[in-house]
Amino acid sequence: MSGRVEGKVALITGAARGQGRSHAVRLAEEGADIIAVDLLEDIDTAPYSMATKEDLAETVRLVEAQGRRIVARQADVRVLSQLQSAIDAGVQELGKLDVVVAQAGILTMGSNTPQAFFDVVQVNMVGVVNTTAAAAPHLGPGASIILTGSTAALLKGSVDITGAGGLGYAHSKRHVARLGHDLASIYADQRIRVNVVHPTNVDTRMMDNEFMYHAFRPDLENPTREEMIPSLETKSPMGVPWLSVEEISAAVLYFASDESRWVTGQQLKLDGGQLLSTLDAGVPS
Ligand SMILES: NC(=O)c1ccc[n+]([C@@H]2O[C@H](COP(=O)([O-])OP(=O)(O)OC[C@H]3O[C@@H](n4cnc5c(N)ncnc54)[C@H](O)[C@@H]3O)[C@@H](O)[C@H]2O)c1
Repeated sequence: MSGRVEGKVALITGAARGQGRSHAVRLAEEGADIIAVDLLEDIDTAPYSMATKEDLAETVRLVEAQGRRIVARQADVRVLSQLQSAIDAGVQELGKLDVVVAQAGILTMGSNTPQAFFDVVQVNMVGVVNTTAAAAPHLGPGASIILTGSTAALLKGSVDITGAGGLGYAHSKRHVARLGHDLASIYADQRIRVNVVHPTNVDTRMMDNEFMYHAFRPDLENPTREEMIPSLETKSPMGVPWLSVEEISAAVLYFASDESRWVTGQQLKLDGGQLLSTLDAGVPS
């Protein structure tokens, strides 16, 4: 039986762990070969560590266990030349490129310095521009680009969050939302689609770290993951603390597949209803 993305080749940045790894494995399960890119180094202003070589090796193992091919490279999305070589190597080996998932991102929340602002904007905003620019020459009719936003892009007042790092995060994600719309307009006549996925909190290292435990439970001296969860639940009217990586991969798979071949320019909120009270319905009243 053929899979939902059988025979496609998908580039995923930030693929060593978390959502990026989950997308790689889910797309491979449905028949895609993968080009996986990750930084594999820490960024000083981020209050948690980035993925390691071992993490990327585990992504490779999981994709190959699905019987699919994977080209995995260390590259920094902030550096266009590194991305270009990684993508070119992947296309050389796997033959083409059909799907781009710009997933790599950081959160420098809590760091109130200009550097914290620059770092998050460089990765989350410039990195996404670099990813689409480096991939574009390889894409043709039927290709699908999927950008990763955040509810922080759409939340009213999200620019207020915790210092320069939080401000940069909100700015970078707002840019990604706008970029998705503009690229969808530019590429429509080439039949290349661009959609943006906006997750609320997701159960990955970006949320599951000591800094976040303290941010969500300032009332406790040494808060734990379990003690953070009730506070996360209050952000969703449905009472969901965070989504699983598999739930985000389900949306990415839909946008990657031909099931959505006439769907472009979407800003898909995966938010447990978080934005219901702050956004207009987007439909005539
Ligand atoms: N986790 C959440 O709550 C949440 C919510 C909304 C949006 N997001 C978005 O999802 C993405 C993060 O994914 P995650 O939740 O799996 O977190 P994560 O920290 O587990 O994964 C991020 C991956 O990106 C890699 N990376 C970081 N900087 C890079 C760079 N310069 N070049 C290449 N790779 C780099 C990291 O090494 C890591 O493997 C970000 O774009 C983030 O803004 C996350």
